[in-house]
Amino acid sequence: MSARPTFHLTLLSLLSLLLCFLYLATADDLQILLTIKSALQNTNSNIFNSWEPNNPPCNFAGITCSQGSITSIDLSNQYLSGSIPFNSICQLNSLETLSLGQNHLHGPITEDIANCVRLQYLDLGNNFFSGSVPDLSPLSNLKYLYMNNSGFSGNFPWNSLSNMTGLLVLSLGDNPFERALFPNSILGLTQLNWLYLTNCSIEGEIPRGIGNLTELINLELSDSFISGEIPQEISRLKKLWQLELYNNNLTGKFPSGFGNLTNLENFDASMNYLNGDLSELRSLTQLVTLQLFYNEFSGEIPAEFGEFRKLVNFSVYDNKLTGPLPELIGSWAEFDYIDVSENFLTGRIPPEMCKRGTMRKLLMLQNNFSGEIPATYSNCTSLTRFRVSNNSLSGVIPSGIWGLPNLGFIDLALNQFEGSITPDIGNAKSLSQIMVADNRFSGDLPPEISKVTELIAIDLSNNQFSGDIPATIGELKQLYSQSSLTEQQFIWANTQQYRLLLSFVLHLKKSSKGDGDRSLKEESWDVKSFQVLSFTEDEIIDSIKQDNLIGKGGSGNVYKVVVANGKELAVKHIWNSDSDGRKKSRSTTPMLAKSTGRKSSEFDAESMGIPNKVTEKSDVYSFGVVLMELVTGKRPIEPEYGENKDIVSWVPSKLKTKGKLPALRPTMRSVVQMLEAAEPCKLVGIIISKDGGSKKEEI
Ligand SMILES: *[C@@H]1O[C@H](CO)[C@@H](O)[C@H](O)[C@H]1NC(C)=O
Ligand SMILES: *[C@@H]1O[C@H](CO)[C@@H](O)[C@H](O)[C@H]1NC(C)=O
Ligand SMILES: *[C@@H]1O[C@H](CO)[C@@H](O)[C@H](O)[C@H]1NC(C)=O
Ligand SMILES: *[C@@H]1O[C@H](CO)[C@@H](O)[C@H](O)[C@H]1NC(C)=O
Ligand SMILES: *[C@@H]1O[C@H](CO)[C@@H](O)[C@H](O)[C@H]1NC(C)=O
Ligand SMILES: *[C@@H]1O[C@H](CO)[C@@H](O)[C@H](O)[C@H]1NC(C)=O
Ligand SMILES: *[C@@H]1O[C@H](CO)[C@@H](O)[C@H](O)[C@H]1NC(C)=O
Ligand SMILES: *[C@@H]1O[C@H](CO)[C@@H](O)[C@H](O)[C@H]1NC(C)=O
Ligand SMILES: *[C@@H]1O[C@H](CO)[C@@H](O)[C@H](O)[C@H]1NC(C)=O
Ligand SMILES: *[C@@H]1O[C@H](CO)[C@@H](O)[C@H](O)[C@H]1NC(C)=O
Repeated sequence: MSARPTFHLTLLSLLSLLLCFLYLATADDLQILLTIKSALQNTNSNIFNSWEPNNPPCNFAGITCSQGSITSIDLSNQYLSGSIPFNSICQLNSLETLSLGQNHLHGPITEDIANCVRLQYLDLGNNFFSGSVPDLSPLSNLKYLYMNNSGFSGNFPWNSLSNMTGLLVLSLGDNPFERALFPNSILGLTQLNWLYLTNCSIEGEIPRGIGNLTELINLELSDSFISGEIPQEISRLKKLWQLELYNNNLTGKFPSGFGNLTNLENFDASMNYLNGDLSELRSLTQLVTLQLFYNEFSGEIPAEFGEFRKLVNFSVYDNKLTGPLPELIGSWAEFDYIDVSENFLTGRIPPEMCKRGTMRKLLMLQNNFSGEIPATYSNCTSLTRFRVSNNSLSGVIPSGIWGLPNLGFIDLALNQFEGSITPDIGNAKSLSQIMVADNRFSGDLPPEISKVTELIAIDLSNNQFSGDIPATIGELKQLYSQSSLTEQQFIWANTQQYRLLLSFVLHLKKSSKGDGDRSLKEESWDVKSFQVLSFTEDEIIDSIKQDNLIGKGGSGNVYKVVVANGKELAVKHIWNSDSDGRKKSRSTTPMLAKSTGRKSSEFDAESMGIPNKVTEKSDVYSFGVVLMELVTGKRPIEPEYGENKDIVSWVPSKLKTKGKLPALRPTMRSVVQMLEAAEPCKLVGIIISKDGGSKKEEI
């Protein structure tokens, strides 16, 4: 019976050998992980707290082991910076998952990555790498490859993909690679279900071999240089759930059989040169989002669209579509927006798009829709945009529409609407633009307009409005009291007796006196009338009286002034609080210049005729500077004025008067005379200050 101890001994030594081996391996792994830790910096996460030499590596946060070997490193979304030591990492020869996406990693990807041959999952996406991607062909076990939006450039090693026959996900988009044809190496990856190649410089045609990728559920090729037609073979991709082709150079019609893609939920082929009609799409009943704007599609919108049970976003603006919209379009799901602007559509506004109370945008500009606005929109409180200008719509605006609480923009211009703007507009707490020009609206502007505290622009021109501009309009100055920006409000008014553009320049300044008895932010606003006018200073001065008061501001009142030729002006009388404002700086700030982005046909401020720059003026003094600049064509500071002198000291010297102190300046009457003499037909702006001076501005 001596065999037993021997056996035990053997087993023991075997065990200890094994333990010893494991220990050694782990010691190597530990060293590698500590190298990774020292290469990467993390300021906002504590992922590395557990990465200490006295801890077993398999217990480190983000590390997964299998049978004692490290198989996975997941450090994604950990605010990491630094560059990746692939020479160390790829010594972990059991590593199958390396997930480093959504960090701030930089530097190049070194060729050492080719040693990570066991990798099945590689995520380097959403980082700040540089340089080109090295050869990846040894990584033939990859199933998931994310390198999207990570700063890679140069030629991608497309041929490396041919060996990755098990690849399920390939995401390389949003990198400035060299231009390349759609890579043939992808066409053999028949397991692929996710292909993201948007915005990474793919050019040429979509190859017919795309039809090989029958497992695809997502195919994204947008923002590229792809031309030619959509290949007929695409209709073999019956599992497609999302197809994104926007912003390319695609031409031609939808291929026959496209309608076989009946699992499509999101389809966007906007911004191409596609033509033909939409009849292939009538069987795509699962569509949630359909965007085809900026193309050359014609024909009618298929009636079947009215039965699409999931549709929430529908944007086909700027095509050549004709006929009516399906009556029930948008009535089934939690509809979000429709933009069918700039087509040749007719018929009525579909009444049920806000049935679920979720609709945010109704954009149907520039078609030939007719009939009335359906009353169903009266309680569509989710609406932020209601824009139907330039159609043949008529009737009275259903009550409730004016006062929708989230509506930011109501645009009814260029129709045949009638009736009045009703007092419920006082409920419109978000309304910043009211565009109702060129209709048959009538009646008074209700005083409740003053409760539309977000108002920036209102255009009432070419209607039959009557009565006065409500005195309460002056209260609108409360608007931007919390804002540090300069804003400008415009009012166009036309009652066939007067046509008026009031421009409320609201500007805010910090009190130069610091914490005085006035608030830190002191506002003033100027009202100018941009019109060719003729008037005398006395006409203006004499009208500055209580009877004509139409508004009160923090630093002055606004008066209605009827001048001799019958024109009405709004004139701001500013209390001079700081006559020596020479130190005040002027700057030009952009206003409402933000682009509305590619996904909407909505116009920005510029296309409404609102200038995208507004001059910030701290007080009447600098306003005067602006006027003088405009009229004289000179800049505020120029060498010819002399050292430390500006346009204000220059203008009086031109007038042969001396001195910089306000009292010694020429009267504003003489400035006005001078300006009139200089530009007799360009007198357009007026501002009255406490000393009775008036100035003019050329527009
Ligand atoms: C981009 O990469 C991230 C991982 O970094 C991934 O979650 C995301 O789905 C990828 N985007 C696309 C469109 O493939
Ligand atoms: C693909 O893998 C085989 C061996 O598995 C290798 O011989 C070939 O060179 C690889 N192809 C590429 C493009 O790397
Ligand atoms: C396209 O990719 C670049 C990086 O190459 C990125 O900066 C840009 O934002 C992407 N464009 C879009 C529309 O996402
Ligand atoms: C399509 O797949 C087949 C095998 O399924 C393959 O033989 C063929 O080469 C592929 N076509 C392209 C264009 O890669
Ligand atoms: C896309 O089409 C436009 C207009 O037809 C053309 O000017 C441009 O060169 C085309 N670009 C490409 C990459 O084909
Ligand atoms: C569409 O599918 C039907 C049946 O599933 C099939 O008969 C037809 O050939 C397909 N059309 C195309 C163009 O793939
Ligand atoms: C509809 O479009 C809006 C705006 O682009 C987007 O935020 C929303 O996610 C889309 N809804 C669906 C279901 O795609
Ligand atoms: C509007 O009122 C009608 C009738 O009361 C109701 O059926 C509908 O759901 C309401 N819509 C919203 C958005 O509240
Ligand atoms: C109104 O629409 C017509 C086309 O129907 C267009 O020619 C015209 O320019 C549009 N008017 C405005 C002011 O947008
Ligand atoms: C618009 O439709 C009306 C009928 O509703 C028609 O009288 C008018 O001619 C149409 N206008 C255009 C430009 O087609």
